Amino acid sequence: MAQSNNSIKKILTVAFVLCIVCAVIVSTAAVALRPLQQRNVELDRKTNILEVADLYEPGMDIQTAFEKVTPRVVDLRSGEYTDQFDPATYDSFQAAKDPAQSRTLSGERDIAGLSRQEAYSTVYLVGNPDDPEQLILPIRGQGLWGLMRGYLSVQGDGNTIEGITFYSHAETPGLGGEVDNPNWKAQWQGKEVYDEQGDLVPAIELVKGGANESTEVDALSGATLTSRGVTNMLQFWLSPEGFGAYLAKFRSGVDQDDAEQADVELEAEGA
Ligand SMILES: Cc1cc2nc3c(=O)[nH]c(=O)nc-3n(C[C@H](O)[C@H](O)[C@H](O)COP(=O)(O)O)c2cc1C
Repeated sequence: MAQSNNSIKKILTVAFVLCIVCAVIVSTAAVALRPLQQRNVELDRKTNILEVADLYEPGMDIQTAFEKVTPRVVDLRSGEYTDQFDPATYDSFQAAKDPAQSRTLSGERDIAGLSRQEAYSTVYLVGNPDDPEQLILPIRGQGLWGLMRGYLSVQGDGNTIEGITFYSHAETPGLGGEVDNPNWKAQWQGKEVYDEQGDLVPAIELVKGGANESTEVDALSGATLTSRGVTNMLQFWLSPEGFGAYLAKFRSGVDQDDAEQADVELEAEGA
C-alpha cells in the first residue's frame, strides 16, 4: 500500500532530499562565482586607488587606467622596496595575521588600534616608478564602530597630500560615515603631512573648527570619535612605525634634486 503523504518517513525523506539538492546548488554557485567575486574585489581595489589619485572618471576602463599605476612591496622598517614578494599577489592583511610576517603592537605604540602590523606593505606608484607623481599608501585603523580601511595619496615630494579615501568602514551614515563625503575629502588636497623638513613625526590632524592651511583638516561634526580614529591612523601610518622611513627617502630625494637643479641654474648663470 502507498505511504500517506503525512507519514513521518515520507516527510523526512522529502526534507532530506531537499536539503541535499539545496546544499549542492549553493556550493556549486559559491565555487562557480568565486573567480568572479575575486575579479570584482580586485576591480574595486583598483577603482579606489584611481579615485584617491584623482584619476577616476565614471565609465572609464579601469584596467587600462591602472596601467599608469605600479604596485611595489616596501619593507616598512628600512623604507626600501623588496622583490621578496610579488606585489600582484602579496596580501598585507594576511601577513598581519601571520606571526612570522608581523609584530604585535600594544599600548602607546598602537594608536591606530591594530594589535598586529605587517613588516611589508604594498604601495602604488602613479606615473614613472623611478620618479612617481604620487605615492598611494594603504592606511587602516579603528573608528568608533570598527576597522576603517582606506588609501592616502601623497605627492612625489613625500609630503603633500593629494587625497584620501575609505573603502571599508562601519561608521554611522551622517556622522562618522561623512568620511565618504566628497566635500570633506576635497579639503585634504594640498595639506602637508610634516610641518618641518626632516621631521619624522607627522603633524597632519583633524581639528574642531578653524583648521589651518597646512597640516589641519576640519573634524567631522558630531563624530569626534571617528575623527580621532582618522587622526590616529594617519599619525601611525605616517610615522616611522608605518611609512615614515619610506616617505623620508622621497623627501630627501626631492631636496637633493632641488639642490642639483639649483647648481645647474647657478652654473648656467655664471657661464
Ligand atoms: C546611534 C549613534 C551613532 C553614532 N555614530 C557615531 C559615529 O559614527 N562616529 C562618532 O564619532 N560618533 C558617533 N556617535 C556619537 C558618539 O557617541 C559621540 O557622542 C560623539 O562622537 C561625540 O562627538 P561630538 O563631540 O562631535 O558631538 C553616535 C551616536 C549615536 C547615538
